[in-house]
Amino acid sequence: MIRVKSEEEIALLREPCAIVRDCLNFVGGRICPGMTTEEIDALVHDFICASGAEPSCLGYCGYPASACVSVNEVVVHGIPGDRTLEEGDIVSVDLCAYKNGFHGDGARTFAVGKISAENEKLIRVTEECFFKAVEGLKAGTPLYDIGYKVQTHAEGNGFSVIRSYTGHGIGREMHEDPSVPNFGRKGTGVRLAAGTVLCIEPMIAAGNWRVKVLDDGWTAVTQDGKCAAHYENTLVVREDGVEILTL
Ligand code: MF3
Ligand code: CO
Repeated sequence: MIRVKSEEEIALLREPCAIVRDCLNFVGGRICPGMTTEEIDALVHDFICASGAEPSCLGYCGYPASACVSVNEVVVHGIPGDRTLEEGDIVSVDLCAYKNGFHGDGARTFAVGKISAENEKLIRVTEECFFKAVEGLKAGTPLYDIGYKVQTHAEGNGFSVIRSYTGHGIGREMHEDPSVPNFGRKGTGVRLAAGTVLCIEPMIAAGNWRVKVLDDGWTAVTQDGKCAAHYENTLVVREDGVEILTL
């Protein structure tokens, strides 16, 4: 069941979302070769706590960190550890903050130093997929138009769309209905109501979309070992468009 939010609830949601935005910008400015993924996690943890919020990921279904830090072939849910970032890597940072009784959620993929033209394109197209999906999105839009637009743009650029992870509703819970796939048939799915709060999060692979989860139970990698990128924002569906809360 989709829980549509009131203006009062949306007002409470703005602060955790702003913290997510600021934290992503803060971390993005500090990514450099030689850094470990757990150093990124520590930056995220301290930033969120210093903002008076809680890192929603920490302890979520047993997840052991405050951020998901996913390097190269890691698609999502990379558990921070001693992996060191190298020049030419790409690293996705996904984090959630809880404050005022609400969660905000966002992700970005960052370049580590100078990266290949192919990886530049992967990051750019993944971001573009998000903006294509929100273009024209407003109350009454069929849910799966989002995935249709993401998929069309990704595949049109020679990339593929991850199938086994999706965007989602968000609010008092980190994951609420509806599930928001990054693929789909135009004109299908529930028509979104004004006040629906969604996380739209294209996860795009340079090669094949098939993934496997490592023995740690979280880390999702591409089966072909090629890179993947991730871009996510929390937004409110409005009568005449969207209000993006994590930008
Ligand atoms: N932020 C992720 C999402 O977009 C959730 C990560 S799962 C967790 O849904 F266990 F790390 F919290
Ligand atoms: Co999310």
